[in-house]
Amino acid sequence: MKTENRGNFSSKIGVILATVGTAVGLGNVWRFPYIVGENGGGAFLVIYILALLLLGIPGVIAEFIVGRHSHANAVDSFKKLAPKTKWHWIGYSGVLAGFLIMGYYAVVVGWTLEYLTQAILGNLSGMTVEQYGQVFDQFAGHPYWPLVWMVIVMLISTFVVARGVSGGIEKISNVLMPVFFLIILVMVANSFFLPAAGQGMKYLFLPNFSELEPVAILIAIGQTFFSLSLGMGCLITYSSYFKKDVSLAKTATQVVSIDAMVAILSAMIIFPAVFSFGMQPTEGPSLVFKVLPNVFQQMPLGTLWSILFYALLFIAAITSLISLLEVVTAYIYENTSLTRRKAAFIVTGMVLVLGVFASMSFGPLQEVTLFGKTIFDLLDFVTASILLPVGGFFISIFVGWFLDKRIIATELRIKHPKAHLFIKGYIYMLRFFVPACIFAVFLYSLLG
Ligand code: TRP
Repeated sequence: MKTENRGNFSSKIGVILATVGTAVGLGNVWRFPYIVGENGGGAFLVIYILALLLLGIPGVIAEFIVGRHSHANAVDSFKKLAPKTKWHWIGYSGVLAGFLIMGYYAVVVGWTLEYLTQAILGNLSGMTVEQYGQVFDQFAGHPYWPLVWMVIVMLISTFVVARGVSGGIEKISNVLMPVFFLIILVMVANSFFLPAAGQGMKYLFLPNFSELEPVAILIAIGQTFFSLSLGMGCLITYSSYFKKDVSLAKTATQVVSIDAMVAILSAMIIFPAVFSFGMQPTEGPSLVFKVLPNVFQQMPLGTLWSILFYALLFIAAITSLISLLEVVTAYIYENTSLTRRKAAFIVTGMVLVLGVFASMSFGPLQEVTLFGKTIFDLLDFVTASILLPVGGFFISIFVGWFLDKRIIATELRIKHPKAHLFIKGYIYMLRFFVPACIFAVFLYSLLG
């Protein structure tokens, strides 16, 4: 096992920006708005915020404790903290999940780059509603264009990961995340001037619980895990690069808040726009690719808004893709004699093979299904609905029941006269509440 010179995030702001970089991704800008749209708006938002506070924050802190205390990748962290046990299987499942998520995530990141390019070329205007739909279907089903973009986004990620933690991941996050926040704020400000601004905001912020189905709770919890990069050791890997003076509880709270804020801001961009131009937010996964170009072209300065939006989506997505690649690369790099660069290239090669199949689910392999799902949908389902919650369940049990309480106290280092009560309460959450919620959700989804 290579343990020397693993690298660290060099500054506190770098810690926040890199961790926000993994959390904020397609999950916030692409997935969140369409699932709010499918699940009835405001009421879903309330459930989602509860899930973030009650499961998200404790979950993030648990991964941080494991990562920072062990200073090791997703698998070796458990080997160090629980030698000669089977706990490190959580890590194997995480590395596998990271690989499978990349297989379809890279496909969608590729789409964002295609749309950004088309927006810059001015090709995203002058079509009818149906034509926008057809353009997307033709592109996604094209035998090689989506693959070309997928190769490009994986090579960008490989390049960053090969340069290491502070020289690669931290540097790119420090540049891209501020640009991201600038773009999102400009777009939200614009959103308030749209004709249906009021209707969009009402849809998002006015809860109507009569429209909420029980299954929405399940979806909200799944979204929490996906959006926070939780349940597969991604945050273990990132926090293994935190220095000792980083406050874990504070960082977790900040990252979860920023992640929630970005999801809400994205919805504040999308709903007013969609309602203003006579469209519906219930379109599902293709919302941002089929519906939004048509919305943008009807706005003044439409080309500018579409360039900004797809740049936003691309930045969010690429920093998350980098984090996924880092999880698998760190594990391989630290357990072989390969260099970081070689390890990253090998993982990328394998991801591309999987990605070809995922991408072709929209074209030549459309008919190839298992349990009624295409390869793309299957990768999403197996990871987001099974591997992440199961991983989160066991990490919570591991930290709550197995890990020495003194390690938790040392890592949390809360300076407060009642610190022991916080820690006690926190351990109770991890022992009972978090696993019980995940278990209930799981049972419901298997029976339902
Ligand atoms: N959180 C990212 C998003 O919202 C996706 C992601 C990156 C992720 N790394 C992860 C999801 C690890 C689960 C596990 O798009």
